Amino acid sequence: MSDVSDIAGELAQIEQDARREWDAASDNERQLVRSRYLGRKSRLNALLRGLKDLSADQRKSVGALTNQTRDRLTALFEQQTEPTETHPRAYDHTLPGRHHPRGHRHLITQTMDEVISIFYGMGFEVVDGPEIETDYYNFTALNFPPDHPARDLQDTFFINDEYLLRTHTSPVQVRVFESRRPPVRILAPGRTYRNEAINARAYCVFHQVEGFFVDRDVSFADLKGVLIAFAEEFFGSGTRLRFRPSYFPFTEPSTEVDVECLLCGGKGCTVCKNEGWLEILGAGMIDPAVFIAVDYDPEVFSGYAFGMGVERIAMLKHGIGDIRLFYENDLRFLRQF
Ligand code: PHE
Repeated sequence: MSDVSDIAGELAQIEQDARREWDAASDNERQLVRSRYLGRKSRLNALLRGLKDLSADQRKSVGALTNQTRDRLTALFEQQTEPTETHPRAYDHTLPGRHHPRGHRHLITQTMDEVISIFYGMGFEVVDGPEIETDYYNFTALNFPPDHPARDLQDTFFINDEYLLRTHTSPVQVRVFESRRPPVRILAPGRTYRNEAINARAYCVFHQVEGFFVDRDVSFADLKGVLIAFAEEFFGSGTRLRFRPSYFPFTEPSTEVDVECLLCGGKGCTVCKNEGWLEILGAGMIDPAVFIAVDYDPEVFSGYAFGMGVERIAMLKHGIGDIRLFYENDLRFLRQF
């Protein structure tokens, strides 16, 4: 602001704004108006501070003008409010609107909701299971032998001899089988815990979505069908999956499923460690030993189950390179989704 007439215009504007706000303010608000216009951070004060940049002549006339404005505002603000009962001013429609910032769901919640809605469309029903589980549901009923390494303290957060933090969502299978007869077509999303070294790909807390279907004549082809349909829907049509043979105590045969790395299109990059593929889930045909434990007849019923890593698929879909970002609650990260 160099020109004296510019400054005079600014002063007139300040005064006009101040009068309008003063008139519209309630008794309580007037204190705020006063400090807004005469306080340390007021526009008037800023103009006074800027005087030092002006020539001696300009300083004199601008200084005088500013002081006059300040005096008039001081006088105005000293007036007592007249009772205006006949014309109460409830609001000033010329004030700018107030901004109310709104949050949104965390990317993990958004991702789970999307997975749920895709499987819901394929006839799955959503159930919940406890995060504090017993050794029986987390391991024994799922056919883990007593000395299986997953039962080691190094991998599992034990609470005491009986209770632990579930290491996967598979115990929900057993809970459902105990309380229902086939057909059951269930999705069980939730939090899981593992006592692992924390790094870019592993964290002590993460999320899984468990899915399973038990009925007469359910086959591995049915499993492939739903997983391929899911991948096309979630990652985009034409997304390729790779089924690798694997082992889980509670499924036979078992498979681990990889999705083509979306970041490099399968060519190999740092995210997929030059593999071109990223593992997103474990799955298989439910082992007869599990059925026997819950009194389902394995000669009559068969079923598949899968357990998908929610962080994994979110990282893949959104190109996120470090799982810890989900848990640090840095708004600069969270706001991007
Ligand atoms: N629960 C297994 C895991 O966490 C995944 C899985 C689920 C495998 C269902 C087979 C069937 O690694």
